[in-house]
Amino acid sequence: MPTALILGASRGLGLEFATQYLAEGWTVHATCRSEPDRLRLRDLGAHTLKFDARDAADLAGLTWQIDGERLDVAILNAGVYGPRHSILQRPPSNEDFDLVMHTNVLAPMRLVPVLAPLLGPARGTLAVISSRMGSISATGTGHGALYRVSKAAENMVAKLAHVEFAALGVRVLVLHPGWVRTDMGGPNAEVETADSIAGMRRVIADPLAYPGGGFFDYRGQSLAW
Ligand SMILES: NC(=O)c1ccc[n+]([C@@H]2O[C@H](COP(=O)([O-])OP(=O)(O)OC[C@H]3O[C@@H](n4cnc5c(N)ncnc54)[C@H](OP(=O)(O)O)[C@@H]3O)[C@@H](O)[C@H]2O)c1
Repeated sequence: MPTALILGASRGLGLEFATQYLAEGWTVHATCRSEPDRLRLRDLGAHTLKFDARDAADLAGLTWQIDGERLDVAILNAGVYGPRHSILQRPPSNEDFDLVMHTNVLAPMRLVPVLAPLLGPARGTLAVISSRMGSISATGTGHGALYRVSKAAENMVAKLAHVEFAALGVRVLVLHPGWVRTDMGGPNAEVETADSIAGMRRVIADPLAYPGGGFFDYRGQSLAW
């Protein structure tokens, strides 16, 4: 059975990825930050790893613990939204900038070189859970400015990973999950978590229809950068 690593699996989209892959019999390595979340993931059948994206020691620990794994899929899902206002309303504080950019940009930049060699042998897929809000050409409003900036930067991290690691056999996808009913998406969001994940899993599973270097939503529609 295939193996997936899910970064940020404690709740929301990451937890649903873990749940659905486990239900299909996959081996799942799932990261979380708290002991209650670790126990919940363990009881679901996942192999658990502690990982805080803002903690360099956790990255070193994760690197050591997954060394030698053969991964079919790795999902960079951990993310934060930060302040919801526009730049005009209020530019970000240092604290907000550090929180959002460290989690959404710096951590992926540090994880990509760790994960790519583990994905290469299985010609695996690195799925970066970004957002349509990171599309520069689709930007129509200014709200969530810091999040938008971070997701645009995360898209570039993914594109660089595609350019650098395609030769290793690694397929890198940038995925937009839709506006999903999670803690981040809120109760008024349009898409059920299960539907978003089922859709993204279909995209991940089909390298012919959805080649590496692409930006797709959970329905498989190609998005503009
Ligand atoms: N929901 C949407 O509508 C939507 C739309 C577009 C894109 N996305 C993207 O989808 C991804 C998942 O979103 P979601 O809706 O599931 O959000 P969520 O419900 O807020 O869950 C966020 C996940 O990220 C983890 N996380 C946050 N900061 C972390 C850190 N420093 N280190 C490790 N893990 C950390 C959380 O872990 P803890 O439980 O430990 O905090 C949690 O597992 C994010 O990248 C988000 O930007 C979501």
